[in-house]
Amino acid sequence: MRPISAAFPAARFRRLRASPALRALSQENSLSVGDLIWPVFLCDGVGVTQPVASMPGVVRRSVDLVVKAAEEAASLGIPAICLFPYTLPEVKTADCVEAWNPDNLTNRAIRAIKAAVPEIAVMTDVALDPYNSNGHDGLVVDGHILNDETVECLVRMALAQAESGADILGPSDMMDGRIGAIRQALEAAGHKHVAILSYAAKYASAFYGPFRDAVGASGALKGDKKTYQMNPANSDEALRLVERDLMAGADMVMVKPGMPYLDICRRVKDTFGAPTYAYQVSGEYAMLKGAALNGWIDGEKSMLESLMAFRRAGCDGVLTYFALEAARAIRAGRA
Ligand code: PBG
Repeated sequence: MRPISAAFPAARFRRLRASPALRALSQENSLSVGDLIWPVFLCDGVGVTQPVASMPGVVRRSVDLVVKAAEEAASLGIPAICLFPYTLPEVKTADCVEAWNPDNLTNRAIRAIKAAVPEIAVMTDVALDPYNSNGHDGLVVDGHILNDETVECLVRMALAQAESGADILGPSDMMDGRIGAIRQALEAAGHKHVAILSYAAKYASAFYGPFRDAVGASGALKGDKKTYQMNPANSDEALRLVERDLMAGADMVMVKPGMPYLDICRRVKDTFGAPTYAYQVSGEYAMLKGAALNGWIDGEKSMLESLMAFRRAGCDGVLTYFALEAARAIRAGRA
């Protein structure tokens, strides 16, 4: 495509900006409630909410309250909710067995949500970090993050989530070979309709800091995740990873973080045309919320503008902690 226009004054771009009607007619992209996936944090107990200090407005919820949250999200038309567990330090081990416990926090929450609000899709996180005393997404032996042994654990974890009723599995670990292994195991176990949204291009990012507080992984993590997450300087590599994951059976692919990586979203969408999502991560949320709470930017307008950016970059949807707020603004006609 090569957009053309006449010379001034034949072409006056302001003509199509002159009124709300003409702006609406010439609007290229749109943001709707159906584009939103809402990540939520889980904690133990009943009737418990715990604020996450570095993410103003975000709380961890016990299973009973996450069901209420899912009901609210569904009533607003949000299609999917994504679960992340806060695991107590005493439950974390080096072998990460809690990750595939059928009664772990995530699996209990999946069952409770699917029983009460079957219409909302439940997405999960497939990675060992919430359960790992080492804080890493994979098994650690002598300071090395093992790949193939970790993939075996991820398969067990994925099967337990599918068994509990998860609709979309989100492998976020960046081990090699995990998508194919999980897809094969799902088929073999009869979970033919469980979708995989691969965290295909996930960068080793400083913007995950508040999330690690939210799931209680900050204290445990020694070192960084650079041997498995991507180098922020790379772009072609993202395309190779996305291609690999699509060929291995991913239904949808994700770029993460979001706003600093919009160029990657666009390349992925243009190259493969697959269902493409971005994760507007915890640090992005914290920056926008922090500035808004200080009165430095308009919170709602900057939120909506940031979400529209993902649509403009070619994303079909976005995981965002703003999902509820954004859905309300969209439904009220302010987006
Ligand atoms: C870990 C995981 C992370 C996020 C989602 N899954 C953090 C990490 O890789 O350390 C980050 C999400 C966010 O920052 O909002 N498997």
